[in-house]
Amino acid sequence: MSFDLVLFGGTGDLTWRKLMPALFQAFRHGKLPPGGRILAVARDERSDEAYREFIRERFNEVDSAKRPTDGEFDRFAQLLHYRRMDLSQPEHYAGLKRWIEEPRAEEGRSTPADTVVLFLATSPHLFTQICAQLGAAQLNGPKVRVVLEKPLGHDLASAQEINRVVAASFTEQQALRIDHYLGKPSVQNLSALRFGNALFEPLWRRESIANIQITLAEGIGVGTRGEFYNQTGALRDMVQNHALQLLTMVAMEPPASNDADAIRDEKLKVLRSLKPFTPDSVVRDVVRGQYRSGTVDGKTVPGYLEEDKVPPGSRTETFVALRTEVQNWRWAGVPFYLRTGKRLAARDAQIVVNFRPVPHPIFPGANVANKLVIKLQPEDGLELHLMAAKGTGQTEALSPVFLDLDFDKAFSSERVGAYERLLLDAIAGKLNLFVRSDEQEQAWRWVEPVLDAWANDDAAPRLYAPGSWGPPASSALVARDGFAWAEEQ
Ligand code: BG6
Repeated sequence: MSFDLVLFGGTGDLTWRKLMPALFQAFRHGKLPPGGRILAVARDERSDEAYREFIRERFNEVDSAKRPTDGEFDRFAQLLHYRRMDLSQPEHYAGLKRWIEEPRAEEGRSTPADTVVLFLATSPHLFTQICAQLGAAQLNGPKVRVVLEKPLGHDLASAQEINRVVAASFTEQQALRIDHYLGKPSVQNLSALRFGNALFEPLWRRESIANIQITLAEGIGVGTRGEFYNQTGALRDMVQNHALQLLTMVAMEPPASNDADAIRDEKLKVLRSLKPFTPDSVVRDVVRGQYRSGTVDGKTVPGYLEEDKVPPGSRTETFVALRTEVQNWRWAGVPFYLRTGKRLAARDAQIVVNFRPVPHPIFPGANVANKLVIKLQPEDGLELHLMAAKGTGQTEALSPVFLDLDFDKAFSSERVGAYERLLLDAIAGKLNLFVRSDEQEQAWRWVEPVLDAWANDDAAPRLYAPGSWGPPASSALVARDGFAWAEEQ
């Protein structure tokens, strides 16, 4: 299946940091379908050759294991083309259409591609303009798909506006919204664990599960992204999308099939079942934090307010912890705790399923409950924590042990990264890992009362030390229910 992949924003950060390395990995693994052309589109004039050199240099900044050798790059570079476009000019879209419809043999193919993927790796404020122009130029035929990167809007109304303009040119099946967390291998393994194994599903409910914790922690600060981040904050940047998508994957009912819409229908039901926030419950159930300056590993690091392009006195949150519930038969009364933040103790993304303790303990010592840890980062794996007898005495207390499954070791070199997975799926037209507009809007609808409550509240976020797990109020939120975050257990 031949393809044309057009990257709008072809010289931007997302393209050279994430998309090109992912495309190169797909190429190296032999997973890119043959007969492909990749066209980078940007504002300035340059030749294909100059663009290839630009990308070659950028690869030096990529993780060395993922860097091509000269020979590999030369072969990969044959797929790369470049075109200048002024995104406001209809004739430039007409030119793009000609490039797609009338390929030249010297570019490796002389018949139009079977599938065309238009990836908008531009600043989001251009999405509506580009989609409207693509529609007007009739670059929206049945074999065309458009891929949209987050952030898709900054609240419900702006997300709906983007979706309205996109829908005027593209059907829902043609519009692919990326949440790169869905491309992470461990997230796919969560589906496999739940729906490809009979073992856990009978336990996956309120009768056996005490609480579920989703942590997306980063060790880094906002770095050079102060301007963007200050208008965004952790709730919009990580909770509305990544954390909620993970929550839907954990809590959804078994879908009738592995079809994209069968899955997305179930995820949507979870989002609709989330306990709505009120101004009072925001105060009670949501902790908003901001990192202060301090020392991490012997080095002084700036506080959020001292970061580049962050205005003095900013109340933007760099940390959120919240408690919610999925209000349905399966999950009634089970707390779901979500937390995310920058400058925390570690880069650590994981989902912890805490089971209930045994109802009638017969062994001495503490009655420690089982837990299942689905690790997304830094490693990708699964831990099942159990209690066992060491066999060293007669009346001994049980000891905690865990079964540890390392997916990288188990499946080694065949594994593909998140963007590689999502780009290959976009080319293949496989929509399971893309977010449907109704899911995305429902996620905005749910976070909006929190945004509103904070906008009407003069209180500053709670400060936390860099290298910590956030403000103490985050631990208190979980302790209130008699539980503790994983690292405190
Ligand atoms: C992005 C956020 O969506 O995800 C960033 O905008 C964040 O702020 C990043 O750093 C985290 O992604 P990952 O894959 O590195 O955990």
